[in-house]
Amino acid sequence: MNLCTNVLRKLLLSFIFTILYTAQGEAQQCVIIKTDGGQKVKAPLGLPDLEVPKDNPMTPEKVALGKRLYFDKRLSLDDTVSCASCHDLRLGGGDGRAVSTGIKGQKGGRSAPPTINAAYFNVQFWDGRAPSLEGQAKGPIVNPIEMGMPSHAVAVEKLKGIEGYRKAFQEAFGGDITIDAAARAIASYERTLLSGNSPFDRYMYGGEKGALNPMAKMGLVVFSGKGGCALCHPIGPDSALFTDNNFHNLGVGMDRPDPDLGRYNVTKQEKDKGAFKTPGLRNVALTAPYMHDGNELNLEAVVEFYDKGGKPNSHLSTTIRPLNLTSTEKAALVDFLKSLTSSDIPEF
Ligand code: HEC
Ligand code: HEC
Repeated sequence: MNLCTNVLRKLLLSFIFTILYTAQGEAQQCVIIKTDGGQKVKAPLGLPDLEVPKDNPMTPEKVALGKRLYFDKRLSLDDTVSCASCHDLRLGGGDGRAVSTGIKGQKGGRSAPPTINAAYFNVQFWDGRAPSLEGQAKGPIVNPIEMGMPSHAVAVEKLKGIEGYRKAFQEAFGGDITIDAAARAIASYERTLLSGNSPFDRYMYGGEKGALNPMAKMGLVVFSGKGGCALCHPIGPDSALFTDNNFHNLGVGMDRPDPDLGRYNVTKQEKDKGAFKTPGLRNVALTAPYMHDGNELNLEAVVEFYDKGGKPNSHLSTTIRPLNLTSTEKAALVDFLKSLTSSDIPEF
């Protein structure tokens, strides 16, 4: 089955019906709104409309090409791994593993974050080393333990030899195949992977008071209050990204002999040692195991981790401290996190 048919059909329609849709204020997924200087993607309930970079406007042709590339295993050296292998949309955009597995069964050191809603991050990767989706998409193709192509030039030559790609690039970009165009197409497709409209969103932003059960409602109170979670995973008045787009040290993996220093590898600033990007928590019930190293197996374990005050180390965030939650509060937090699963996942 073609998982994205719905999304694309809506996108194609949107070019004809944009004005009508916006006039009606209807929350349609993947509707492109033309703004003064550019475009926005109309977001589902609970997410802000997504700004499209001016230098990579979205078109149905580009999105269709990006989608095709995202699912094409031939983008890897031995035709075994596609973006979707590690970012499976049915698993919330991750791969359900602690750390990812690339060509020839090779394992990396970090877990695959979801591509769904990744377009909202200011920077990409756990350590923020890529400035944009466009900048990110080229990396895995030539990463020896991911898709393993010897060079971008080789990847381009391979695409040129595959039936249909020349025409698709021509239609999307009016030119021949380049790696930059491929990355731009993939990024455009990723900007259609917006997922909101969870029970939490319907309760918080949709006026459906019964959308959350009593335990999840209590969890929301703990999340925003005693637990201090919303300090880093914020909930806004009109929408919630559950990320401050910032980096923090919770001590994850810092008790290893040779810990991953995260953001420090990018900035070389002492304060960034062991700091990682705050993940958005949408669909988090689908993306176990958790944290950048996949070391926490379930949401109960994550809540226990926070309750104990993270893992002590010399760079621990000052916001992280023992919480002394009751067992009911812990269970409520887990129920709340489960209420962030969107009903639109099956559409992708
Ligand atoms: C072998 C598994 C694997 C493959 C294949 C792969 N990725 Fe990833 N992806 C990862 C891992 C692991 C990370 C996190 C790496 C890090 O933070 O250092 C990641 C990070 C990302 C992010 C950043 C998300 C965030 O929250 O910061 C995006 C976007 C992404 N990948 C898209 C893609 C695209 C597009 C492709 C195909 C061109 C792709 N990935 C191929 C494993 C994979
Ligand atoms: C100081 C900022 C901060 C606070 C406070 C905070 N978080 Fe986090 N959260 C993060 C960061 C950063 C990570 C990723 C850490 C890593 O992998 O090293 C994370 C990871 C998570 C994850 C794993 C997500 C995934 O995809 O792997 C969950 C679930 C989570 N937090 C829930 C909570 C809950 C519940 C609370 C409150 C009890 C909370 N957070 C408080 C910053 C914070």
